[in-house]
Amino acid sequence: MDLNTARQQAQDLREQLAYHNYRYHVLDSPVISDAEYDALMDALRAIEAAFPELVTADSPTRRVGAAPAEAFTKVTHPAPILSLDKATSAEELHAWQTRIAKLLPEDTPPLAYVVEPKFDGLTVVLHYTGGQLTLGATRGDGQIGEDVTTNLRTIRSLPLRIPLSADGPHPPANLVVRGEALMLLKDFEALNERLTEAGEAPFANPRNAAAGSLRQLDSRITAQRPLSFFAYAIVGADLVSAPATQQETIAALKAYGFPVAEDVIRRFETLAEVVAYCQEMTARRNSLPYEADGLVIKIDDLTVQQALGIVGGRPRGAVAFKFPPQEATTLLRDVEFSVGRTGVITPTALLDPVPIAGVTVSRASLHNFDFIAERDIRLGDRVLVHRAGDVIPYVVGPIADIRTGAEQPITPPVTCPSCGEPVAHTAGEVAYFCLNSACPAQRGEKLLYFAHVLDIVGLGSSTAAQLVQQGNIVDPGDLYSLSRSELLALEGFAGKKADNLLEAIAASKERPLPRLLAALGIRGVGNTVAETLVAAFPTLDALANASEAALAAIPGLGPVRAASIRAWFERPGNRELLHKLKAAGVRLEAETQATPPEVGPLSGLSFVITGTLSQPRDDIAAWITSLGGAVGASVTKKTNYLVTGADPGGTKFNKAQQLGIAMLDEAGLRQLAQDLSA
Ligand code: IVH
Repeated sequence: MDLNTARQQAQDLREQLAYHNYRYHVLDSPVISDAEYDALMDALRAIEAAFPELVTADSPTRRVGAAPAEAFTKVTHPAPILSLDKATSAEELHAWQTRIAKLLPEDTPPLAYVVEPKFDGLTVVLHYTGGQLTLGATRGDGQIGEDVTTNLRTIRSLPLRIPLSADGPHPPANLVVRGEALMLLKDFEALNERLTEAGEAPFANPRNAAAGSLRQLDSRITAQRPLSFFAYAIVGADLVSAPATQQETIAALKAYGFPVAEDVIRRFETLAEVVAYCQEMTARRNSLPYEADGLVIKIDDLTVQQALGIVGGRPRGAVAFKFPPQEATTLLRDVEFSVGRTGVITPTALLDPVPIAGVTVSRASLHNFDFIAERDIRLGDRVLVHRAGDVIPYVVGPIADIRTGAEQPITPPVTCPSCGEPVAHTAGEVAYFCLNSACPAQRGEKLLYFAHVLDIVGLGSSTAAQLVQQGNIVDPGDLYSLSRSELLALEGFAGKKADNLLEAIAASKERPLPRLLAALGIRGVGNTVAETLVAAFPTLDALANASEAALAAIPGLGPVRAASIRAWFERPGNRELLHKLKAAGVRLEAETQATPPEVGPLSGLSFVITGTLSQPRDDIAAWITSLGGAVGASVTKKTNYLVTGADPGGTKFNKAQQLGIAMLDEAGLRQLAQDLSA
């Protein structure tokens, strides 16, 4: 490929990636699969690797972060970031309106208001020059913040270049946008689960998680953290026709490709409607996908907002309506220790039941033992408990001032609460582990996870626990040899229920290979990684035999995951599990090759590999896939090329000869890729 073609292709790929990224992360309605997205990204990476001079700052490949910085550079904001006056009731909202009405000239037209969520995240200021994100800063003290551009670039919903598509509005030469970086509740939960499983300390709340991630000196870590962004203000722009109202601002931001909280943002012409909406949203706050501590009410007309000025560092033209706190204090009666599927032991507080925002709370997360020690939480303490969304409530800390002296320290268990084996803990690490792989709790959790991922309805936690305890099941592979009579012997299992479960188990044999792979619970292998793995190794056997080097060579996988995958397949117990799956007739091959994406020199071509080559076959397969080609396990009419190594022979060779399929040796394959690249 020559430089000009490469430049054109890279440009093309970046546009496609930006579009699909927006569909996925902002609109929540992707039109291509994750694997197809990854293939586009791989193709762009391949071009950038071959032509480093074509790498641009706004390339989506830069979302992965860069080497750690020494410290953050200070940035002076173009306009100070102010605080807002607060209101907590209808009366206070009316008082605000009365105050400002007095300051406005009599002939001011009736005011309109825009109501937005008050995101509980971190303010960030984004500078776009010539449509490109050139600087992103934290709030800091409101005047001076820190340059966290490299970290912000990793946020998928944040546009690196505006507008997103060529038919979007022409960007001003300079644009400064303000908004909030935060972590969605579902992402926060998943992140904490991941951290806990890895034996690392989870975050206490989404805001801490967002702050901790954004202020990472190593942006590669930030890239692993699921941050989101919502824009809400244009601070400065040399626009010919700048938005005159807040509503127009939101529309303009949206048109440029910024995520805005459209579902919540509303414009009203009377304060009575604003008040009613505040009440409605107070009731609905837990259905929001992020934490919001209230709503921001802004005068819609930006000229009026400006004219109202600032008093005591707070603009008069806007006010924060604060939701009542979702917190309560109650007695910490006891602590329960539970064992997760990887053996990590987590503490849960058992509380005197207390209502918090309409829900009775009697259990709350204590995160981990470091957290308990850090906050000095003791049995018998009165504790502050916080609830947000549908996430499990958590203990914020003790009310130490009202201790009686009878409170008792909480100590990590010495033996596993499920199997009684000694608990392991490495000094300096957060997690306490049960290392016994035969531990019933771990087995139950693994089974439950398997059933959950494969959608085996009817297999809940009590069934999983019983099956493990009664010895019917050692690992999920045993599910497929369960008999009706074994199920009928379980508590609460009548005929119909057993039949339904058996049917669900049988149906789960047909799930696509990536799903099955994700269900195995290999550390670091969720749905997306599973798809990537299956694209490179279309059968479970091939994957099980892939070398660590071959795995590490898969774009986007990395050495840590490669090692963890390899280690999983090495373990005899897991080999046994695969054996059971195979014997039961579970689908262990990729479905007919997914149509390869229309990118890369080998796109549209299907290969099968046979014989001994200069590298492991799986490495060759990964290389072909990275160039857009598809690799099949067996020769069919659809196979375009059989790649043959030394001493080919065998079924594949004979079949290919029979079908008249073209054969290539390794040199021929490379030549083909090169010819098609040109
Ligand atoms: S606009 C003129 N809108 O709240 C109005 N701020 O107390 C100035 N915040 O740290 C603020 N959500 O980062 C505005 N929809 C929203 C907001 C919002 C959260 C934060 C903001 C600032 C604080 C102001």
